[in-house]
Amino acid sequence: MKSEIIATGKYAPENRVFNTDLQKWMDTSDEWIRTRTGIKSRHLAVDENTSDLCIEAAKSALAKSGIDPREIGFIIVATMTPDFQSPSVACLVQSAIGASNSFAFDLNAACSGFVFALSTAEKLLVSLDQPYGVVVGGETMSKAVDWKDRSTAVLFGDGAGAVLLKKTNQSKGILAEKLHSDGSRGTSLTSKHYPVENPLTNLPEKETNTALSMDGKGIFDFAVRKVPENIRETAAAAGISLEEIDLFVLHQANDRILQIIAKKLGMPLSKFASNIQEYGNTSAGSIPILLDDCFEKAALKNGSAQKIMMTGFGGGLTWGSILYQL
Ligand code: ACO
Repeated sequence: MKSEIIATGKYAPENRVFNTDLQKWMDTSDEWIRTRTGIKSRHLAVDENTSDLCIEAAKSALAKSGIDPREIGFIIVATMTPDFQSPSVACLVQSAIGASNSFAFDLNAACSGFVFALSTAEKLLVSLDQPYGVVVGGETMSKAVDWKDRSTAVLFGDGAGAVLLKKTNQSKGILAEKLHSDGSRGTSLTSKHYPVENPLTNLPEKETNTALSMDGKGIFDFAVRKVPENIRETAAAAGISLEEIDLFVLHQANDRILQIIAKKLGMPLSKFASNIQEYGNTSAGSIPILLDDCFEKAALKNGSAQKIMMTGFGGGLTWGSILYQL
């Protein structure tokens, strides 16, 4: 038994902010952002939170499938920017879409979140014998960044993508996967520290700024070193060559990272899907948003037997690839 993606959906806040708009808020330039990252704009939430984006993305996938939400067995939301510590974003999604027979939980693996959640979802579908499962990756990164820190604020955006999975006995779904973490490098990207505060603690001074902080160069070097290795080991585990992969759907952190990875793998850049130009880095949202874009543009088709390599990398540190057959 395996899983098949039967529908995808996405949602981003209507408010699209271009680099030229950011120039009015901080000391940056369209030229710096475009040449360093490939980003031209990002969507930023105004009165919507992560759950609102995830609900719309899940609704869009469901509408395309036509299935009754009560048939959904579980919902996993990959996010590092939940509305609350409790309830989870997944529970908020469950209620909003009427998936009353499902269990729901969040998973946090930063920008690798969607890949880790998709891996978890296939195991749940198969071992718990569920007919359908929903995986959403969604973030409002705009509430995590320090808007006075130009080195991170310009990179991130808000958005969510969703996939609806169905159990199948055909040879589709995950052909191979290799997931990794290196917690010893956790300080390379930190966001929202929650220190223990109770009558017994004696904190030296109250922490006020726990905005996202990132060693951009360190993560860049990590990504261009580890991701090609990770893609190769995943393809090898499935016994296929890189040439047999139809499309690389990688986390959208930086176009330069994608160019270096393509070069290191000896693959044409045209095989690497990209939409960072519009969305910026939406962390766990980036891969499912990109997947939906690819289906919309007919670069991917259900039942086509296309092989796609999905790779996430980021905070944790975490990284991982799934080779998926449609
Ligand atoms: N506008 C103008 N100038 C800027 C800006 C800005 N927005 N930000 C930084 N600069 C300046 C810096 O101050 C520096 O100036 P200096 O040389 O006078 O000191 C100069 O630009 C160069 O900065 P660098 O940090 O060297 O720029 P770099 O080329 O390394 O690009 C970037 C930075 C885009 C962050 C890159 O390192 C990167 O993409 N890193 C990877 C990020 C990533 O993949 N994150 C992973 C996932 S995130 C997650 O898990 C949630």
